[in-house]
Amino acid sequence: MIWYFIVIVTGVIPLFSSRTSTAELITELPGQPDGVSFKQHSGYIVTDPQRGHALFYYLVEADARDPLSYPLTLWFNGGIVALVLIRYCLCYCLPILIDFGLGPGCSSLGIGAFMEHGPFRPARDGGLMKNEFSWNKVSNVLYVESPIGVGFSYSNTTSDYINWTDADTGTSELFVTIFLLVKSNEKLKCPFEFVLGNPLLDSQISVDGATFLWSHGLISDETLKLKETVCNDSRFLTEEIHNNISKECAEVHEKQVEEMGNFTAPDDVLEPYCFSGTAAMQSASSSAWDAYHAKLARRMVLTDPCLADSIISYLNNPQVQKAIHANTTKLPSVWQSCSGPLSYQGLNLGNDIIPLLSGLIKEHLPVLLYSGDQDSKVPLTQTRIIANMIARDLKFTSMGKYAPWYDKMQVGGWTQSFGRSRKGENATHLTFATVRGAAHEVPYTSPSQALTLFKAFLKGSSLPKVPFKN
Ligand SMILES: *[C@@H]1O[C@H](CO)[C@@H](O)[C@H](O)[C@H]1NC(C)=O
Ligand SMILES: *[C@@H]1O[C@H](CO)[C@@H](O)[C@H](O)[C@H]1NC(C)=O
Ligand SMILES: *[C@@H]1O[C@H](CO)[C@@H](O)[C@H](O)[C@H]1NC(C)=O
Ligand SMILES: *[C@@H]1O[C@H](CO)[C@@H](O)[C@H](O)[C@H]1NC(C)=O
Ligand SMILES: *[C@@H]1O[C@H](CO)[C@@H](O)[C@H](O)[C@H]1NC(C)=O
Ligand SMILES: *[C@@H]1O[C@H](CO)[C@@H](O)[C@H](O)[C@H]1NC(C)=O
Ligand SMILES: *[C@@H]1O[C@H](CO)[C@@H](O)[C@H](O)[C@H]1NC(C)=O
Repeated sequence: MIWYFIVIVTGVIPLFSSRTSTAELITELPGQPDGVSFKQHSGYIVTDPQRGHALFYYLVEADARDPLSYPLTLWFNGGIVALVLIRYCLCYCLPILIDFGLGPGCSSLGIGAFMEHGPFRPARDGGLMKNEFSWNKVSNVLYVESPIGVGFSYSNTTSDYINWTDADTGTSELFVTIFLLVKSNEKLKCPFEFVLGNPLLDSQISVDGATFLWSHGLISDETLKLKETVCNDSRFLTEEIHNNISKECAEVHEKQVEEMGNFTAPDDVLEPYCFSGTAAMQSASSSAWDAYHAKLARRMVLTDPCLADSIISYLNNPQVQKAIHANTTKLPSVWQSCSGPLSYQGLNLGNDIIPLLSGLIKEHLPVLLYSGDQDSKVPLTQTRIIANMIARDLKFTSMGKYAPWYDKMQVGGWTQSFGRSRKGENATHLTFATVRGAAHEVPYTSPSQALTLFKAFLKGSSLPKVPFKN
């Protein structure tokens, strides 16, 4: 299996010195720790010369003596349409991982690389810290800020920012893929697996967080009842998309917000609140902040609830932009983690990509749906319903029992695989896995578990079913 990736990678890295992309080697990132031996490249890929569209990318080579013998992973934060492109170039594409599913997308550089699984995380002092669970320990990783208007990616035709749709994203992401293919001059093979984390797969099932919130004690019995009978999250989202929130939905929503309070992130109901630089700073004492931090330190070494703020200051630093060859055209707005100038066609949020996903599985592309179990935005309960639904529709049987998977000596989460038995051989086509203690952005809060999950994905093997020592 790994062989496919060797083929892919051999051709792909040299392409970044071509004329179509202004690919450049990063000499050193400001604040970069000492002893970094892997190479980093970044720059723009022009996806539409007529309209002046350019997507920003960041390529991190594998942290190994021979990076060319490692696979290449293409990472998008958000952007349903990479799914569509996979469908069209099935058997020719690279492994593609998508974090959020539907929607306009957030920055793969800011969120994917600097918050989730890149080699560094910005520190509060403006420097960088090493991420010992970086995915470039086992793969070359290409992060693309997609579509135009996200992060450093831009359009010189600013009217293109208005009413941007998933189909538009698909076209440009397709371009990136074709670009890679043409340049790599190799006959690429099928990717062997496809991974989606806490994905927004539809607007009906995925977002229904009432039971999750209630079972974690964030809302009252009464509010649960109201959400079940008056206005559920799916209806609320639909009304929000249509810019037409009814009185009863507004009331239920308000009650929920009041009960949850101001200091809990829907992304991760366990995460301490970041008090720096917000209005909340004034209302909380510093001893409260210290207590949060102590709790945090017990829970995870790397997670800093203010990381998002540090990323924003880091990427808006002109020296950093110069070092990574970004913002070469003096863009009018500042760098933001999600769509800045882009005005996304909100109705697209109603798109249902479950049929697309089923189609991919039918075409023998194995899929892993993982779910951080502290996320209330796209809760595990809902992703599990969707996984079961797809398995039922495709007439899959359970491959083994619902069981824990392990990250070293600890339980990493729970998992269930589905597939078919043919001639006594079991073939897994769909895997559902929870990640214990993880946020919407799984590697952010649970980097070690995420790396274990990613390693299994690259090997094409199932998640570790027994504890193991490193
Ligand atoms: C956008 O416009 C700037 C300034 O004219 C130019 O330097 C740049 O190459 C253009 N970008 C694209 C992708 O055409
Ligand atoms: C955006 O698209 C919607 C739905 O197609 C349409 O009603 C609206 O007029 C469009 N807005 C602009 C500014 O083009
Ligand atoms: C949410 O409410 C709508 C009606 O408002 C209903 O059609 C739908 O089935 C509900 N969804 C769930 C998951 O209960
Ligand atoms: C908004 O919703 C109300 C009832 O919920 C409906 O009567 C009205 O037609 C809707 N308006 C639009 C523009 O969809
Ligand atoms: C929560 O936020 C709302 C709106 O910003 C504010 O009115 C309210 O006082 C805040 N509550 C607390 C406990 O800080
Ligand atoms: C690009 O640089 C200009 C200054 O030249 C700055 O005002 C702007 O905020 C930057 N934009 C981004 C997206 O970094
Ligand atoms: C295939 O899966 C079934 C059901 O989980 C199990 O009973 C059987 O032992 C498996 N066969 C092999 C060869 O792994």
